[in-house]
Amino acid sequence: MSISLAVLEEVVREAGSIALAYFKDLKNVEVKQKSPRDFVTAADVAVEDFLKETLTRKYPEYGFWGEEGGQSANQTNRWIVDPIDGTHSFAKGQYFWGISVALEIDQELMMGAVYAPALNDYYCAEKGKGAWKNGQPITVSSETSLADGMVGTGFACLRSYLEDNNLARFGRIAQNTTGQRRFGSAAVDLCLVADGQLDAFWEQELNLYDVAAGALIAREAGATVTDFKGNEGLFPKQVLVTNGKILGQILPLM
Ligand code: IPD
Ligand code: CA
Ligand code: CA
Repeated sequence: MSISLAVLEEVVREAGSIALAYFKDLKNVEVKQKSPRDFVTAADVAVEDFLKETLTRKYPEYGFWGEEGGQSANQTNRWIVDPIDGTHSFAKGQYFWGISVALEIDQELMMGAVYAPALNDYYCAEKGKGAWKNGQPITVSSETSLADGMVGTGFACLRSYLEDNNLARFGRIAQNTTGQRRFGSAAVDLCLVADGQLDAFWEQELNLYDVAAGALIAREAGATVTDFKGNEGLFPKQVLVTNGKILGQILPLM
């Protein structure tokens, strides 16, 4: 059975129902600390288990890589999954978290979905065919001035206690923009760039499962996807995504 965005949506929306059932009963949801500043809940595990069982049963030719369960043997053509991106927000009862599912074939991201069930927003994209939010086509913002722009970031780097902790970079960019946001889910943040709600997003020290689907959605909506020097491509350790019109203005501040 060949995969389609419609089939993927059915599966990801069902995963969202599982996540919402836990979200509505947080007082009874077990939260564990994976490492300092990094949590996993019973919901993360339940959603990933559902996605792994369902996707590998429907598409046995594809392998699976989930944040919580790790990689299956086949990593040539694979599903890349973050079952809940923004787990800390989820555990605190906040709405800004998402389920991220990408399909990578021969090292090309071909299909991606990011579903934010508490926001009731479903983003998806297929390589070369465009990006959609709740069934409507989306494109990046028309903002041409960084000074008038709104940007987003995250601080995954604080988990690694790195010397470059993004704080000086954030300060430089904050002094040269109008709006700054740290919503707490890189996967959804990337979709906000795709949807024109953010004009740029950057973060260091992420993993491919945080950004694979969101980066494809952003790219298909017209975004640039580079590292902090402007080199084209998806670099999870240094992700910079912009509406393409302010890339030259933000690079000197990175
Ligand atoms: C986190 C979110 C957050 C980012 C963290 C990520 P998780 O994912 O994407 O926005 O700043 O670094 O780890 O851990 O909730 O799946
Ligand atoms: Ca994540
Ligand atoms: Ca996660």
